[in-house]
Amino acid sequence: MALLAIETSCDETSVAVVSDGQILANSVSTQIELHAEYGGVVPELATREHLRNLLPVAKAALSEAELGVEKLKAIAATRGPGLPPALMIGWRAAQATAYALNLPLIDINHIEAHLYSPWIKGGKSAANFEDFKPNISLIASGGHTQLVHVRGMLDHAILGGTLDDAAGECFDKIARLLGLAYPGGPELDRWSEKGNPAAYEFPRPLLNDSSDNFSFSGLKTSVRYFLEKNPKLKKDNDHLPDLCASAQAAIVEVLVKKTIRAAGREDVSCVTASGGVTCNRSLRAKLAAACEEQGISLHLASPQFCTDNAAMIGVLAEQKLKAGNEPSPVEADIQPGWALA
Ligand code: KG4
Ligand code: ZN
Repeated sequence: MALLAIETSCDETSVAVVSDGQILANSVSTQIELHAEYGGVVPELATREHLRNLLPVAKAALSEAELGVEKLKAIAATRGPGLPPALMIGWRAAQATAYALNLPLIDINHIEAHLYSPWIKGGKSAANFEDFKPNISLIASGGHTQLVHVRGMLDHAILGGTLDDAAGECFDKIARLLGLAYPGGPELDRWSEKGNPAAYEFPRPLLNDSSDNFSFSGLKTSVRYFLEKNPKLKKDNDHLPDLCASAQAAIVEVLVKKTIRAAGREDVSCVTASGGVTCNRSLRAKLAAACEEQGISLHLASPQFCTDNAAMIGVLAEQKLKAGNEPSPVEADIQPGWALA
């Protein structure tokens, strides 16, 4: 028996089929090109695109899983947080499907799904929960940056989060200041490759603050002021790799040091990281080096499960079913502002 999972909280339409931790299919239709000319996600366009794509994506997932709907034991979907009209498309489709097939509907918090995504193995292999250990988890995406103490399966406490911009938002805004294409994070990562991360000194906000909170808007502002004072640098592509590498180094250093410090303080021997920013090559390398130095094991979400996907929704929903969590009432509404508790 398998579970069908739906994710439409932002600009990815995704449907997955999951069975006992195995990802039988994870079909994703991304809208990146659609939103590129606006430099950000346009909710109205995202919603129309979800509406257009959800059925073909679901059919593709069921066909890849070689499964008919009669083999489904439950339906899961992201109920929040996310863009309200975008969430509505996937959530309402899940409600209607659960009602029509008389199946339980599992409501999933999108951030909680990112939290357990580092345990999903790539390809069609099973989620790796047999290796599960209490951990400090960094969730870094376009909308969220949080440090979480995961004490056990489905048992976690929020340690801190961003006071203003998320790490991904900071990547994207700095990339835009530097004239890079949308989405900025991956572009900035790419341009950093040949740059010197010590070429320019940008601030590391809250690095030495005793809390587990982050603040990235001042860093973006300092890059803006720097470019206003040095307009020639911006126009000259020769400086772009150094500028990108230096800005990236500031974001990555804060994320890595605060994550490792929290692991030490909570006496945890495992660190995990997830969310779109965890695709960043420097963040992956620096986290790996810091964990090795401290004798901490590291589970990074594989890049295909870092960005939004329904596989992580399905994997968490199965754990909730196993734990005996109550299904969602079929008439329940979306929760666009659902914070991870
Ligand atoms: O988790 P995600 O797909 O969507 C949200 O839930 O927000 O994360 C998207 C964010 C964007 O800000 C994007 O620029 C960033 O992740 N991102 C990256 C990289 N790949 C994606 N940031 C830095 N380096 C990357 N390689
Ligand atoms: Zn996400």
